[in-house]
Amino acid sequence: MAKRVLFAASEVYPFAKTGGLADVAHSLPKALSSRYDVHVILPLYRSIDRNKYDITLLHEPFNIEMGGEEYTIEIYGCLFEGVECRFVYAPLLCERDYLYGPPECGYEDNALRFGLFSHIIAALLRSEHYDILHLNDWQCALAALLIREDPMIPTKTLYTIHNLAYQGVFEADVLEQIGVDSRYFTLDAVEFYGKVNFMKAGIAYADFITTVSPTYAKEIMTHEFGCGLEGFLSFHSRKLQGILNGIDPEHFSPMSDTALVSTYKNVKGKKSSKSDILKQFALKGATKPLFVFIGRFTGQKGVDLLIETLPKMAALECNIAILGDGEEEYSTALNAIAQSHKNVSLHVGYDEALSHRMYAASDFLLMPSLFEPCGLNQMIAFAYGSLPVVHRVGGLADTVKKFENYKEGSSVGYGIVFNTPASRALLSAVQKACELYIDKKRFEEIANHNMECDFSWSESAKVYSRLYESISK
Ligand code: GLC
Repeated sequence: MAKRVLFAASEVYPFAKTGGLADVAHSLPKALSSRYDVHVILPLYRSIDRNKYDITLLHEPFNIEMGGEEYTIEIYGCLFEGVECRFVYAPLLCERDYLYGPPECGYEDNALRFGLFSHIIAALLRSEHYDILHLNDWQCALAALLIREDPMIPTKTLYTIHNLAYQGVFEADVLEQIGVDSRYFTLDAVEFYGKVNFMKAGIAYADFITTVSPTYAKEIMTHEFGCGLEGFLSFHSRKLQGILNGIDPEHFSPMSDTALVSTYKNVKGKKSSKSDILKQFALKGATKPLFVFIGRFTGQKGVDLLIETLPKMAALECNIAILGDGEEEYSTALNAIAQSHKNVSLHVGYDEALSHRMYAASDFLLMPSLFEPCGLNQMIAFAYGSLPVVHRVGGLADTVKKFENYKEGSSVGYGIVFNTPASRALLSAVQKACELYIDKKRFEEIANHNMECDFSWSESAKVYSRLYESISK
């Protein structure tokens, strides 16, 4: 019989998404479902449409206790793309306008909200047998501690770090409210500069830890990228491995994508997508290269660098279309640039379908990230025949090779790579991209090559299943 895996995440596409974690929490369980009996578990946020996904109540409500308070919990379920999904409902956790809080700040009671999520996961494991619990990011990290310390739960845990920049750090007095004994308030457990750090619980107590690319796995053990946890991670490095994310080829295929104005199988087929997007963004010049930026407006994504460089990029023969949302000051600055340059255009908001049409329309995708645990956009760009322009860091370093070294018949994706996160470097990468674009034949050959490469989960899912096997032997 297949082993049972409970895959826990605070966001899962298409139910709730703020970033790449949601895509991975959708596509990885799907890729593993041929080998394992995988159940995905997430909060049933208010924004999730229960009717649309046929989400129904599975159990009678039950109470759980956390820090001396009783909470009433409901468990719902649905089947999505062949994967069983479980939803936990508690008003404290789910009745909010945002998943974690408005951009820039999290809700004040997030420790309680996600502490409760971990307690619910532990409660489920007491009543149902799972061989493996796969936890993701800080929001469910506490579950690793709760499970390790409960002799009734035999489940083994794997903890995946998607982004070390968000660790779930709270004032020390939440410990009692989240039902964690003060004996865990130590350096080797959850204590972090006098505060409580949820991620440390995942790192300390999981049977194994992964992060989302081999380069990021090395980077997070350095002062530059470790966000204060480099020492702790180095201490646990024997159980740490970097495994590259994949994308779901069914969801990201220009040959079948229903969001596109017309589907295509090679770069020649992108023309109508390009004119559609140029029109939508009020840009002119289909013969000029179209650069797009798609993503959250946060420091991580290199938005400062982009803002600094955009006016100079706009002086080149190209068009630039930007889609995303996030920190207000970034939107304002980007908007000001778009207002004063007719070849720069901005759409503020999160729009999955529009993003697909932009991958299809674009010649180049800009990803000047300061750090990037894995990054999925560059892989999506490959699939849609758009060349990524990337800062060589984290997962970008692992997935995007310099186009200057393009070799026919290789299996890696090529783009424009720059080494330092500086405006001059980004500008010169964009200039290189414009030059390559003029060499139509070469540009198309490389873009077509990228479209043929495999960025699915097939390889990485095998690595994950080997890990599942070794921890649950
Ligand atoms: C986070 C990281 C991103 C990664 C994604 C999925 O959003 O910032 O680099 O691709 O998680 O693992």
